[in-house]
Amino acid sequence: MGRDDRDARVRAQYESYPYPPRDAADEATRLVVGSPGQLAELNHYVFAGARDFARPFRALVAGGGTGDAAIMLAQQLADEGPGEVVYLDVSEASAAVAKARAAARGLSNIRFVHGSLTALPALKLGRFDYIDCCGVLHHLEDPAAGLRMLVGALSDGGGMGLMVYAPLGRTGVYHVQSMLRMIGGEDALPDRVTQARALLSRLPPTSWMRRNPYVGDHLLGRDAGLVDLLLHPRDRAFTVGEIDALVRGAGLALAAFIEPMRYDPLIQLGDGALAARLRAMRWIDRCAFAELLYGNHKTHVFYVVPAARAGASVARADDPDVVPVPVGFDPAAMAARARDGGTLRTDLDGLKLAFPLPPAAAPVLALMDGARSLGAIHAAVSRDAGAAQDWRGFAAGFGRLYAVLNGLNLLFLRKR
Ligand SMILES: C[S@@+](CC[C@H](N)C(=O)[O-])C[C@H]1O[C@@H](n2cnc3c(N)ncnc32)[C@H](O)[C@@H]1O
Repeated sequence: MGRDDRDARVRAQYESYPYPPRDAADEATRLVVGSPGQLAELNHYVFAGARDFARPFRALVAGGGTGDAAIMLAQQLADEGPGEVVYLDVSEASAAVAKARAAARGLSNIRFVHGSLTALPALKLGRFDYIDCCGVLHHLEDPAAGLRMLVGALSDGGGMGLMVYAPLGRTGVYHVQSMLRMIGGEDALPDRVTQARALLSRLPPTSWMRRNPYVGDHLLGRDAGLVDLLLHPRDRAFTVGEIDALVRGAGLALAAFIEPMRYDPLIQLGDGALAARLRAMRWIDRCAFAELLYGNHKTHVFYVVPAARAGASVARADDPDVVPVPVGFDPAAMAARARDGGTLRTDLDGLKLAFPLPPAAAPVLALMDGARSLGAIHAAVSRDAGAAQDWRGFAAGFGRLYAVLNGLNLLFLRKR
């Protein structure tokens, strides 16, 4: 099969099976949020927390699909200021779903463009402060060339949120894809869906697909999920090391993997005999080690910025001028649990973790209202304690709390 054939089949798949399956009627009851692309999160990792969204802001969602990222970004930008989103996709059926969702929300800040990101310069869309490209690069003939196209549309001070498949958490997926190609690789997609369901219903308990608890799209009953997972004409997975090479090859630098804790082997091995060796490694090598150690990454979500801004794009937790922004949890409730010596428990795809909440964290959590700066929280904690607290000691304590909460994607920082 030639390149053009394969590109045509990718497009045909998403015309027949827009992904992920979404219904505009659901916009009345919920906003789909996730990573990358929440404003607080991308501000933290791409703009060192300093981006003011009350100023004009341009985002490109390349391969926007049925609209999850475009709708989330457009809604959050509309709530803050005059930002706009450009949605780009080769699939008109997918765009139709995304447009219906935007209409259901009354969003007027999304421009819908039909076309391929591989032809981005010809589309003359201008430069963007932020580019989201999730689940797309790994379907291209040449992901590196695709990423370079995106770089060409990125402003110097901007950055991107990307997602590509990861190999270990998809163990078994490629085995099933191969079998389905052997059975009916040239058949019409609806026939292949029937073949896939027949094969899935008879997989032996020894097959890696049945033994893999991390992938579930094929179990949701919707054909689009099954097609995307098992019948895709072109899909490859990237290890952490391959992502690093891809990113550096495009003149970019990694700012973070999401959730950061998934990429930290010291969570598992930090108090053991290997910890010193791990601590001595470069951050990217520890991330690669974590991928091998945990074995449960089915995708990699990560932020990148132009290499010239490497290391400077992430907000700092030792800066009194940052405002801690809690996302997805109630800091007051967590403060109450910390007061009682409680524990924060989480489950990262089978990795069960428990973090004791020290009572000393309670007053800090109680003051984290998304408006107070770290300096103001420090001053208030000192006042309530009736004695000035040393900033360095306070910052070290906050750093420990931040490592857990930011590591789990629950806490970001923005400049005052
Ligand atoms: C797996 S879906 C992901 C959709 C969306 N980004 C998300 O994460 O929900 C991949 C999308 O990329 C689109 N796509 C594939 N190749 C593309 C290309 N060369 N240019 C633009 N879009 C493309 C497909 O039509 C499809 O809608």
